[in-house]
Amino acid sequence: MKLWGGRFKNSSDELMEAFNSSLEIDKRLYEEDIIGSIAHVNMLFSQGILSDLEHDKIIDGLESIYDDIESGALLIAGNHEDIHSFVESNLISRIGETGKKLHTARSRNDQVAVDMRLYARKMAHELLEVLDSYLEVLTEKAHNHPYLMPGYTHLQRAQVVTFKHHLLAYFEMAKRDKARLLNALEVLDENPLGAGALAGTTHNIDRDYTTELLNFKKKKENFMDAVSDRDYQIELTNVCTMIMMHLSRLSEDMILWCSQEFGFVTMDDRYSTGSSIMPQKKNPDAPELIRGKTAVVYGAHTTLLSMMKGLPLTYNKDMQEDKVQFFTAIDTTLSCLRIMTEVIRTMTVNKENMRNAVEAGFLNATELADYLVQKNVPFRDAHRIVGEVVLHCEENNSTIESLEIDTLKKFSEMIEDDVYDYIEYENILTKGIKKELL
Ligand code: ARG
Repeated sequence: MKLWGGRFKNSSDELMEAFNSSLEIDKRLYEEDIIGSIAHVNMLFSQGILSDLEHDKIIDGLESIYDDIESGALLIAGNHEDIHSFVESNLISRIGETGKKLHTARSRNDQVAVDMRLYARKMAHELLEVLDSYLEVLTEKAHNHPYLMPGYTHLQRAQVVTFKHHLLAYFEMAKRDKARLLNALEVLDENPLGAGALAGTTHNIDRDYTTELLNFKKKKENFMDAVSDRDYQIELTNVCTMIMMHLSRLSEDMILWCSQEFGFVTMDDRYSTGSSIMPQKKNPDAPELIRGKTAVVYGAHTTLLSMMKGLPLTYNKDMQEDKVQFFTAIDTTLSCLRIMTEVIRTMTVNKENMRNAVEAGFLNATELADYLVQKNVPFRDAHRIVGEVVLHCEENNSTIESLEIDTLKKFSEMIEDDVYDYIEYENILTKGIKKELL
């Protein structure tokens, strides 16, 4: 059964019907579709547009559809254009003629707009919850592992930091993502229902009432904007791209850390896999998949932007393609956040290996320069002197702290016995603002 057969002489092509249908994708909106319809019907009744009896019949019908979908008694399938058509035709076959009044003073354009907003709001709250657990695990893991480790620039050992500080960098990123998410939630909180196809309706509907019933902060001011606006999806998928970009960088760190070359962490067996041929292999599949899926989320976000950029006002069928992209971005980000939270929670941190890497990297070279500056050597000279010390160490396979004081003095007369204390790795982090690394 079609919602719009009247002006057509020929039935549509079979290929076209399949091409046009979005039911397989948008069936997950059934709850929002029914909630939106119930609010609409309650409003129509309170405005005297539907009678008491009609109202009750439609509400009962919608509720029974919801219950049957939930229990599995009603399968969302068949020859329907989309979830909106599915629910409406199911209602009509359940309650008869009265069901045909459901769509009074409404278009599928404001209907799909309100459904998607309700769904986006629900998913944004879920994302918020998952992001909170991720933040919690990051801080907990960080605070339990204040171990010394090499910090890198250009992937070359640079200065001593702590594993804690390194993880807390990702905590800061996720905190910003949370702020972005809260802002997106604020912006999307507007009710498009009542805008009709694009120009409102001649019926005396009450948009403030549906706004209240659906728990939106306010109603959309402009009808044409209400049915055309997909900004909130683009904003939310943008938040997803940021979250994924951050998860992907952490994944890259993790992949390096659990390689034999680094050996800084051991990933739990539950998040690794083996090789079909090499018996010794333990591969970091979870972070690799996250890194890969980041591309998928970028793709969804870019597709939404591209889809919208050339569309004249107001609704265009192009916009039906928003759902698969939005769902992909949200689903993928949620699963990656959940997996990364567990990867972090269950990994073992190898204190010894990180400590060894610190000692082998001349990571106290900057501090030796700082030491000389304290003895009134200008920094630029100190930098050159320490460079020469490092070269000497490299040529003699040594470390700065293991050189005899007489050897050190050959590079600068200013170096004295107290230097060893100054460049000792544990001590470095107790000086100046480096205390914040601990
Ligand atoms: N399935 C459609 C979508 O998701 C619903 C809106 C249909 N509106 C229309 N004018 N054909 O965009």
